[in-house]
Amino acid sequence: MRRGEKAILALIGAVIVAGVIHSMLHVVGKHDRDIPFYTTATHDVSVKGMEIYNKNGCSVCHSLWTMKDILETVPAPMMDGIGSIRSETWLYDYLSSPNPQAVLPTRLKEKWKMPSYASMPEGDRHILAQYLASLKVKDWYLEQTKKLEYEKLTGKVYPK
Ligand code: HEC
Repeated sequence: MRRGEKAILALIGAVIVAGVIHSMLHVVGKHDRDIPFYTTATHDVSVKGMEIYNKNGCSVCHSLWTMKDILETVPAPMMDGIGSIRSETWLYDYLSSPNPQAVLPTRLKEKWKMPSYASMPEGDRHILAQYLASLKVKDWYLEQTKKLEYEKLTGKVYPK
């Protein structure tokens, strides 16, 4: 075989391998490669929202954009997608409540429960609530999570 022919064969081989890998990924499901979380906020609200979020130590307990203070192991709910289950008004009221556990009961130790942010400047609470409400999760992921939670909690098959 001449060198040119070898190169062509190698190239064809590579194309076939790439094709097989590509179709295997497709079988795994197109959803598995998407990131299901996104924000609908403007650039301005995102920047200010994240600034207030970080300044107030929310990331000590919560994860957002897969970021969390790695030394902490507080089992607090993650903030990704929170805006798909809570409205801006709800989030504002929750942050403003002198006693967040009256709104959402806690199952955790005193030091880990959600602190009150009633003393945060009102403008900051507004932007933070607006930003959190913009954190969405795609429908298929929400459905899948609900299904898994339901089946874990009840031991039954999730009704369609
Ligand atoms: C000390 C840990 C801690 C800190 C700091 C903290 N949280 Fe929480 N948060 C929690 C826990 C735990 C819960 C679940 C309710 C509970 O146990 O009190 C919660 C609940 C929430 C919820 C409700 C989630 C739902 O299921 O609807 C939101 C929204 C939230 N926190 C936002 C924030 C924001 C924004 C900040 C920063 C300004 C913050 N948290 C700071 C621990 C914390």
